[in-house]
Amino acid sequence: MEVKVVAGDITKIKAGAAIVNLFEGVKRPAGATGVVDQALDGAITRLIDEGEIKGKLNEITLIHTMGKIEPARVIVVGLGKQERFTLDSIRSVAAECCKFLRKLGVKKVATIVHGAGIGGMAPEKAAQALTEGSILGLYTFRKHITKEPEHGQIGELLIVERDGSKVPTLEHGVKLGKILAEATNLARDLINEPANYMTPTDMAEAARKIAEESGLEFAVFERDDMKKLGMGALLGVAQGSKQPPKFIILSYRGDSTSKNTLGLVGKGLTFDSGGISIKPSEGMEEMKGDMAGGATVIAAIKAIAELELKINVTGLIPATENLPGGAALKPGDILKAMNGKTIEVVNTDAEGRLILADALSYARKQGLSPLIDIATLTGACRVALGDVCTGAFGNNQEVINKVIKAGEEAGEKIWQLPMFEEYKEKNKSDVADIKNSGGRYGGAITAAQFLSEFSQDTPWTHLDIAGTSISSKEKDYVVKGASGVMVRTLVNFAMGLAGEQTK
Ligand code: BES
Ligand code: MN
Ligand code: ZN
Repeated sequence: MEVKVVAGDITKIKAGAAIVNLFEGVKRPAGATGVVDQALDGAITRLIDEGEIKGKLNEITLIHTMGKIEPARVIVVGLGKQERFTLDSIRSVAAECCKFLRKLGVKKVATIVHGAGIGGMAPEKAAQALTEGSILGLYTFRKHITKEPEHGQIGELLIVERDGSKVPTLEHGVKLGKILAEATNLARDLINEPANYMTPTDMAEAARKIAEESGLEFAVFERDDMKKLGMGALLGVAQGSKQPPKFIILSYRGDSTSKNTLGLVGKGLTFDSGGISIKPSEGMEEMKGDMAGGATVIAAIKAIAELELKINVTGLIPATENLPGGAALKPGDILKAMNGKTIEVVNTDAEGRLILADALSYARKQGLSPLIDIATLTGACRVALGDVCTGAFGNNQEVINKVIKAGEEAGEKIWQLPMFEEYKEKNKSDVADIKNSGGRYGGAITAAQFLSEFSQDTPWTHLDIAGTSISSKEKDYVVKGASGVMVRTLVNFAMGLAGEQTK
């Protein structure tokens, strides 16, 4: 969908529909909504008086304009209570309106910038949120559905602003929103792809293609390279599958004056059956999305490159399947990670931390700092936080705080869990340096403690997206299936590091 900013009067724009808005409790619409109301001979005011339009968040009222103004339809969307209005309300409203109009078969939509008037939002941020919500909400994954969709997609979204001097500011917001939302949708595409279309090899090829398009440095380590580097933990997980593992590296160099490089590490389990400690079959298909962390890293780096941020970033994605083949890891096996630590594998289903152990060791060897890893790591994190927030853990409060803040701006909730020393005890092994599971209780934290043995003293944050990476229901801009969560958070974090400077 094309998103454009135009100066003018929304009643004079030829479009299938015009979107205006109303805060809850407002009886006499002002601003652009007021202009549209007058042009429609007070139709909106009348519907307010009759109680049909209340202004509740995401309430949509359709009015056919019958030639009174250029747009064929007007929809009045409720913005909710003004004191509860946030940038995320804008994303939500934009998504609901676009989905509603798509169902009506509308191809060209004109909208005002919600929240930039009496809502008091900065126009640039409001335009960004509007763009994000629209593009994210209209996302579909129909690649493998042969039946034509019942309705097509909206082709054009015009953001109409009466004050021409505001256009460049709004355009900047649109550009940012477009890059962030499209990167999120790219992550969704990679995650939604079933495991037979997204093997480690496919994932490496997808990353290669993106690197070529975006001018990123690209490399991939094969099994032999992993052996030379001593990545015994990643190789251990991979040995149960016929698909060769890949260690994918993407680098963006936006600041030649600095030696610092941010390291993003993403879990790339293209399918997690659990291995010999096999998972129950019910719901196992969800484990095609166990590479969500890796997809997030690929998409975030693409967006960082498009924004030309003055920063250096390297993404590392260990990619493999976890299958119970004849050569598979067995409970009790002992592996040696790249940093020399030995690991007793008490549960082959705790494979994510094994591949991340080698990726974090490699990241440290490369001197990347700070480090952020993103992984669908534990069912325990999902039990603790549900699908509402992503779990955060780490060894450096400053970095954790920045990540949480970057999430707030993106409308992505992150909740920190504790890393008390006592949890470390649970990972003690009698036969190796550490074991790969500390048991059921506190499972999200003991998994993070395991990772901390490999990030060591590098400033590091771990994000567990097991609960947030897939949505089982449709809710405004979060559609069913992969959410693409943390792409926008990571890019915001990188923008913070770059001081929002562009080259
Ligand atoms: N990929 C899973 C975690 C997961 C569960 C992600 C549900 C998304 C939804 C991970 O590899 C796993 O199996 N973790 C185990 C760890 C346990 C064996 C210590 C878990 O959480 O049960
Ligand atoms: Mn697992
Ligand atoms: Zn897994």
